[in-house]
Amino acid sequence: MKRRHFLKSTAAALVAAQTGSIFGGRPAHADAGSSSRPRLKMPPLLDTRETGRLSLSARAGALSLAGGPATATTGFSQDYLGPTIIMQNGSLAANVENTLDEAISVHWHGLLVPGEHDGGPHLPISPGQSWTPDMSIAQQPATAWYHSHIHGRTAEQVYSGLAGVIHVTDGHDAERGLPVDYGVDDLTLVLQDRRISPSGQMVYDPSMMDVMHGFMGNRMLVNGQVGAVAAVPAGIVRLRLLNGSNARSYRLAFDDGRPMHMIATDGGFLPGSVTLDGLTLSPGERVEILVDFATGAAPVLRSGFEQPFGVLEFAIDDTLPARITSHPEGFGPELEVLTGTQVRTRTLSLDMGMGGMMGGAGGFAINQRPFAMDRIDLEVELGSVEKWVVSSTMIAHPFHVHGALFRVVSENGSPPRPENLGWKDTVLVRDQAEIIMRFDQPASRDKPFMYHCHILEHEDAGMMGQFTVS
Ligand code: C2O
Ligand code: CU
Ligand code: CU
Repeated sequence: MKRRHFLKSTAAALVAAQTGSIFGGRPAHADAGSSSRPRLKMPPLLDTRETGRLSLSARAGALSLAGGPATATTGFSQDYLGPTIIMQNGSLAANVENTLDEAISVHWHGLLVPGEHDGGPHLPISPGQSWTPDMSIAQQPATAWYHSHIHGRTAEQVYSGLAGVIHVTDGHDAERGLPVDYGVDDLTLVLQDRRISPSGQMVYDPSMMDVMHGFMGNRMLVNGQVGAVAAVPAGIVRLRLLNGSNARSYRLAFDDGRPMHMIATDGGFLPGSVTLDGLTLSPGERVEILVDFATGAAPVLRSGFEQPFGVLEFAIDDTLPARITSHPEGFGPELEVLTGTQVRTRTLSLDMGMGGMMGGAGGFAINQRPFAMDRIDLEVELGSVEKWVVSSTMIAHPFHVHGALFRVVSENGSPPRPENLGWKDTVLVRDQAEIIMRFDQPASRDKPFMYHCHILEHEDAGMMGQFTVS
């Protein structure tokens, strides 16, 4: 039986009423009435394993969405977003060129590298200049990402396209029984909502309310494409999901309720898979899941509980090889337990003042202090383990720490949600979360690490702090 569903439009089921561009509005997935849907493309691969070198060029581009007029965008070595970088442990000489007319930086979100290589706001690349960190990669396999991180400009720069995915690999995934065929049974999916104007332009014009809630879109983009269909073989497929949105958290589930077998979180593999019927992914977070497409009609990945909207439609393509047909047993190392060691505890509150609500963009801070480039907020001892008790005000904030991976000890006093069982670098703090981490990467006063809300409008407005590790 041939199961080619490319031309069978289920767009009607996907189209959410275009509710205008208010925050929290549901993004529409695809144009109603389109009968022939484009096939989802993966970002091009940039494999650094042979050469130990990596070059990227930040440049201006143009993106036409769903046949609309082109919007001016930016990208790394292409029009929008950047290549998927494959790297392995060992030395990696990077060269990032900036051909844009404003300063950018390239932060390696999820790589464990010292502050001087971290690419945060203290490492700007001026127009026409290049940045050449000689890095050393030493960590577990993981799906990480990279994006610009200039203080006050991160939201707009990432929105316009300065982001990409990283696969840290040890070359043993096939032995683990995991899908490894990029774009066939191992899909990299960058989820972003974007605000598309009636004339088809991608716009970024945050109002005060947009800053308060974070800038949300009315359309879903996956890998920079609107309404594309992901072709998969009739077997087990690995989805590496990155929430690359500025502000929107997704509650992801398949429309037919098919299970998601979570195999990895931000920092790498779980010891074995965890079966879920849905998962929450907040800005900055990554998750890897295995999905079995061997049975049933091709599903739609959706977000939301009551009125879910389509995020990505799948189609079974029987011409693609179904290499993996059974779920691997265990594949990752046991998770190291950090609790019980001698720890220093710190409390951090992610503040949104009413002042910000009533007038001016004020009120965004951590522990009442808005971010300041020249102020070090915390000093951490190299090699030490710390527990941070993080609390959110007004809304849930995705909290991210540079230069370390953490484990979630508790959420609102309860054990962590299944999504937060593994190694993390970003966690959605709904009310309060306790996290524990060891700081093994050094960072100086000149090139400190950041911790911040990953709603990029909040980060830019001051919900960020910085710390040294020495
Ligand atoms: Cu993904 Cu400080 O960033
Ligand atoms: Cu980061
Ligand atoms: Cu926030």
